[in-house]
Amino acid sequence: MSTALELSQVCVGFPLPPRGFLPVLDHLSLAVGEGEWVSVVGPSGCGKTTLLRVSAGLLQPQAGEVRVFGGAPHGKVAYMPQGDSLLPWRTALGNILAAREAEGRRDKGAQRAAWQLLSDFGLADFAKSFPHELSGGMRQRIALLRTFFARRELLLLDEPLGALDALTRTELQDWLLKVWQDLRKTVVLVTHDVEEAVVLSDFVCVLSPRPARTIALFNLSFPRPRERSSPEVQSARKAILQSLATSKANALPH
Ligand SMILES: Nc1ncnc2c1ncn2[C@@H]1O[C@H](COP(=O)(O)OP(=O)(O)O)[C@@H](O)[C@H]1O
Ligand SMILES: [Mg+2]
Repeated sequence: MSTALELSQVCVGFPLPPRGFLPVLDHLSLAVGEGEWVSVVGPSGCGKTTLLRVSAGLLQPQAGEVRVFGGAPHGKVAYMPQGDSLLPWRTALGNILAAREAEGRRDKGAQRAAWQLLSDFGLADFAKSFPHELSGGMRQRIALLRTFFARRELLLLDEPLGALDALTRTELQDWLLKVWQDLRKTVVLVTHDVEEAVVLSDFVCVLSPRPARTIALFNLSFPRPRERSSPEVQSARKAILQSLATSKANALPH
């Protein structure tokens, strides 16, 4: 299996006016194999979004290396930012198509492929709807399909279900798992929901409080779909929460 994403000893920080410096990623290392699903959990403000941005090539690390399929991230990554990222003036279909327009080349089959994608995953009835006509859950489904529609092998998803109510959220987790199982891309998901990470992932990476380092990596090898109430899910969830709590307790105040 080849390595889709490799962060080696990555350091990122930001200037803190007037003369300070805020370290955000501290010699952070993480490897994600092709076709794997890795979820990243960590305390709020620890550097999760920064980790995705540096992996997408939107930020340069001050030290260390970021490799996507052995080279620079450019052209290989689809990044879905936190929050509502649909274009409000375009329909659901138009939003899906936007993923390929950004590549700047003509793509005649795109329209048909986008319709097919919407219908394969239960959204054909909403193809002509505008974002303001859709529920929050439906908007996130469209934004997720758009990310899968980009011709990119590595998907970086920043808390895509974070703003949804609990019921919609579990529905979307099940739906997203089906999409991923059909389309098989490599996924790095940032989430603050540990159960979501356990239900969906091959590995869960636990980050320390800022500046973020990888403090633990949990391998979840039991088959999917996973029953939320099963002993495997519940014990993995407990172990991850424990690891988060320990790292918080050991963190220096800042
Ligand atoms: N462009 C930036 N300039 C200055 N500080 C930033 C910038 N981006 C993020 N930060 C700071 O880095 C820290 C980590 O942010 P972020 O990666 O968004 O955390 P998370 O996604 O885990 O909540 C925060 O303290 C945030 O204020
Ligand atoms: Mg964030």
